[in-house]
Amino acid sequence: MKNFKVDEDLCVLCGLCAQDCFFGLIELDEYPRITDEQKCFECQHCLAVCPVGAISILGISPEDSMPLKGKMPEEDQVAALIKGRRSIRAYEPEPLEPERIQKLLDVSWHAPTGVNSRCVHITMMDDPDSVKKFSDEIYSRLEAALENNLSEIPYVVNLFKMVCQQKKENGVDILFRDAPHFIVVSAPESAPSRVADMTIFLSYFELMASSMKIGTLWNGILKRVIESVLPDLKERLGIPADHELGYAMLFGKPAVKYQRTVERGEARVRRVEWGN
Ligand SMILES: Cc1cc2nc3c(=O)[nH]c(=O)nc-3n(C[C@H](O)[C@H](O)[C@H](O)COP(=O)(O)O)c2cc1C
Repeated sequence: MKNFKVDEDLCVLCGLCAQDCFFGLIELDEYPRITDEQKCFECQHCLAVCPVGAISILGISPEDSMPLKGKMPEEDQVAALIKGRRSIRAYEPEPLEPERIQKLLDVSWHAPTGVNSRCVHITMMDDPDSVKKFSDEIYSRLEAALENNLSEIPYVVNLFKMVCQQKKENGVDILFRDAPHFIVVSAPESAPSRVADMTIFLSYFELMASSMKIGTLWNGILKRVIESVLPDLKERLGIPADHELGYAMLFGKPAVKYQRTVERGEARVRRVEWGN
């Protein structure tokens, strides 16, 4: 049951809900109604587009959602966010307040997913002591694995060696950057656009974090370590066996502040024309 309801006192029969429905499931009889609830993929566009707030769906009413008038950031503000975001490789030890972490996750959860599947599974380690123990275990097991001739491509073996060496000799934690928290995303192998969905989720997470003055770091090395050296960690982290591992992302209060953007020049685009 999609619980699609129309407030007949408010509805002006403008038809925007019907026009915006992906599958064209809404018909205007006397008032809008869903013709085939099974096909509705719960995108809530009908609720969002209604100019008079007459539509509720899935138990969500217009009063539950945020009015957008005057709320959208200016383009220069978004450009500053995108260009000013940086990979953070130094963190303060103190944890973030749980409410701030929750806000960050809840907003990022609004990232788009293919067919609105919302299939991304977030595994979070937010307790800094747990992160420290997890990190210690990984470093000692990775070092042991390297001593036993790891079957990985030489570039990756050298990368892992450098990671262990930096930790041992200089106390530099390349894997976790001493961050107090991390998330790992995964998604069912059956989900059609899982790789895009996971990547988009983390991209939104990273941008929202940056706007909240929270630092993040994509962690490709940790993903590789789990996949090729310590696969048991996937199960021990509680990630379902039928899930593909996406990426890991570290986060916490940054211990570095950037004063200006980096500059990457103009986007490299190849324009094509068709039909001449
Ligand atoms: C998919 C992906 C994986 C990454 N993995 C790592 C990583 O394992 N360790 C790290 O320090 N940085 C990692 N990075 C960060 C990149 O090195 C960084 O984005 C790049 O150097 C540009 O710097 P910026 O993010 O500050 O613009 C990763 C970035 C992406 C997008």
